[in-house]
Amino acid sequence: MAKDPEQLLQQSEPPPDLPETAADLEQLLARCSEPPAIPAGNIFPIEWHTDTEALLKIYESARRQSWTPAELPWQRLQPADFTPDQRYAIAYWFACLAVFDSSGPAVFARALIHTYEQHEEDPVRKCFFLIERDEVNHEEVCQRAIQTLTPNGPLGYTPETTLGKLAQHNIRWYFHNGARYWQGFKQGVERYPLAILFASFLMGEVAAATLFQQMHQRCRIAALKEAFGKVGQDETRHLRICLTLLQQLLPRLGDDEKQQISKQLRAGYVFLSGILYEPPEQFWQLPDSWRPAHQLLERQAADAGLGILSLDERRENWRQALLRMKGLVEPHGIAFPAIPEIGIDGKTVAFDPAEIIPVF
Ligand SMILES: [Fe+2]
Ligand SMILES: [Fe+2]
Repeated sequence: MAKDPEQLLQQSEPPPDLPETAADLEQLLARCSEPPAIPAGNIFPIEWHTDTEALLKIYESARRQSWTPAELPWQRLQPADFTPDQRYAIAYWFACLAVFDSSGPAVFARALIHTYEQHEEDPVRKCFFLIERDEVNHEEVCQRAIQTLTPNGPLGYTPETTLGKLAQHNIRWYFHNGARYWQGFKQGVERYPLAILFASFLMGEVAAATLFQQMHQRCRIAALKEAFGKVGQDETRHLRICLTLLQQLLPRLGDDEKQQISKQLRAGYVFLSGILYEPPEQFWQLPDSWRPAHQLLERQAADAGLGILSLDERRENWRQALLRMKGLVEPHGIAFPAIPEIGIDGKTVAFDPAEIIPVF
C-alpha cells in the first residue's frame, strides 16, 4: 500500500549540514571542478549580449504595431460576390503565396535556432522571433483567404470548372517545388554565417515590402486590402532589420563570404521570382501547361479586384528592388550577379538549386 506523504517526510533523513562560515564556503569552492567544455554549435551556455542597440528599438516598436488576422473584416469576403472561376483564381493566388509565406514560420524557426546555436547577440535572436511571429500571421492570411473562398482548399475541394481544375494542378506543382526548396534550405541554413543569411533574406524583404504596399493600394476587396496593408508594414520592418544588421556585417566580410553572397543573390532572384515575377526555369520544375494556366488565373483574380500587378509592373518592381540591393552590396566589394532576365548587368555566377536559402 502507498505511504502517506506525511509519513514519508517524517521518515526521511535530516539534510546534511550546510556550510555556514566563510571558511566552509571557501572549502566548498575549493572542491569545485569545471564541467566538460560545451562543443561549438550548442545553444548553451546561455548569455545575452547586445551589439546592435538599434535592433532592440525595432523589436520593441514592433510589439506596439502588432495586429490580429482574425480581426480583419473577413465577413465582407463573401464567396457569393464572385463567379466560381474568380473564387478559384483568388484562392489560387494565395496558395501560390503560401509556398513562400506559409513556409515562413518553419523557415524562420530553423533560422532562429541557428542564431541561438551561433550565440548571436540577443537583439538578433529577438528579431528572428519577431519575424517568426509576423510570418505566422502572413500564413494565416493565406489560410483564411483560401478557406473562405474554397473551403478545404487549396487541394481538398472539388472544383466545378476547368479553370478550377487547372488551378489545383498548378498548385500541386508549386508545392512540389516548395518541397525542393525546403530540402535545400534545411541543408544550407546551418552552413552559413549570419551575414550571408541576412544578405539573402534582404532580397525577399525589399521586394515583398513594395509588392504588398502596391497590392494594398490597388486591391478592391476590403479584407484582403487591409491584409496587404498589414503584411506590407511587417515586410517593411523586416527590411529595416536586415538593413540595420547588414550595415554592421558587410564591412567585415572575407573574400569567400563575398563570393557566397553573390551566389545567394542569384539564387534569391531565381526562387523569389516565383511570386514576385514569373518562375524561371533554372529552379522551377513546371509542366508546359503551368504558365498559360497561371496567366489565365491571374487575369481572373485581377478582374475580381485582387490588385495583382501586371507582369511589366512586377518586372519593374523587382528590377528596382535588385538595383537597390546592388547599390547596397557593391560598395563592400560584393559582385552583384547578372540578372539579364530583368535587364541587370553583373557577374555570371553558378546556381545550385540544392542550396537556396532566400526567404520571403
Ligand atoms: Fe511574410
Ligand atoms: Fe518578410
